[in-house]
Amino acid sequence: MAESGVAPAGGELDEEFAVPSHVDDVTEQIAAFAAGHGAGGRRVVLITSGGTKVPLESRTVRFLDNFSSGRRGASSAEYFLDAGYAVVFLHRHRSLYPYARMYSGINLLDTLQIKRDCDQVVVNQQVLPNIAKVLQRYQQVKEDGLLLSIEFSTLSEYLHLLKAAAQALSKLGSQAMFYLAAAVSDFYIPASEMPEHKIQSSNGPLQITMEMVPKILSPLVKDWAPRAFVISFKLETDASILLDRARNALDTYSHQAVVANVLDTRRGYVVVVTPETQAELILTDEDVRKEVEIEELIVSNLTAAHSQFMNKHQS
Ligand code: PMT
Repeated sequence: MAESGVAPAGGELDEEFAVPSHVDDVTEQIAAFAAGHGAGGRRVVLITSGGTKVPLESRTVRFLDNFSSGRRGASSAEYFLDAGYAVVFLHRHRSLYPYARMYSGINLLDTLQIKRDCDQVVVNQQVLPNIAKVLQRYQQVKEDGLLLSIEFSTLSEYLHLLKAAAQALSKLGSQAMFYLAAAVSDFYIPASEMPEHKIQSSNGPLQITMEMVPKILSPLVKDWAPRAFVISFKLETDASILLDRARNALDTYSHQAVVANVLDTRRGYVVVVTPETQAELILTDEDVRKEVEIEELIVSNLTAAHSQFMNKHQS
């Protein structure tokens, strides 16, 4: 096993992370998606979204989860699509999804009505505000083949699918962007140390030791997609350490930007930190009244930075 928490040598993932059976299919799908859009000169962004799940037993009954609703990733995907990007959406199974996110938490059966005197079912548009406009945009995106959706649940799936996606997108050079908004576990139990069967509570209180997950930004930037434009996220609950941690990440991994946010204020305030600059993005009261989302500002800032990056590093 690799030394705990250390980046994998040569970009190889440790065998303790089980390879998902569909990884080759996903690689092919992403490679075809990238080739099609790359040839047309369209930029492609890979968005990671949602939290990873870390099993405690191999026949999993219990697991540890990372907090993330997937809203940041799903809404950002829509703004990238509006900006002309094609999007690979690598997201946690059942986390928020572009366009559908607007209606999450609504019971499907409450959105439908049976027409009087016939069997026809119609949509109650009062329960689904703006549904015609949202549906039209979603169908257009699908018809144009601009959104490729890939799901993960466990940390192992996330790591292998991210690696596959990065290698497939690396052919696009600086035309590819990585927007790593997923909340990835820092700890895991290696497959070789995991009990097979359900841990028995009759054995008394549970004590577990978890290993450090290798920092995957390192092989992504160095080995998997070295010419791409890479954005990581930094989430803290203590605002006083946020910017230091963001700068520290940039120094360590030498990627292009960190979007720094604090858990409680993340919907209205972020700082985009680059090696040379620091931009505070804040929603005003007027923005909130007009239902502007912070992701619109983040995406606008980063697409402009990506243009400059591409001009400097022709792919
Ligand atoms: O989904 P929402 O509810 O809308 O919330 C959005 C969010 C708060 C989850 C999002 O804005 C966010 O901040 N995501 C990153 C969360 C985080 O905790 O990151 P981190 O500090 O664990 O990791 C920092 C970066 O390192 C991440 O971009 C990650 O891709 C990367 N990382 C993490 C672990 C690991 N083993 N290897 C990595 O490379």
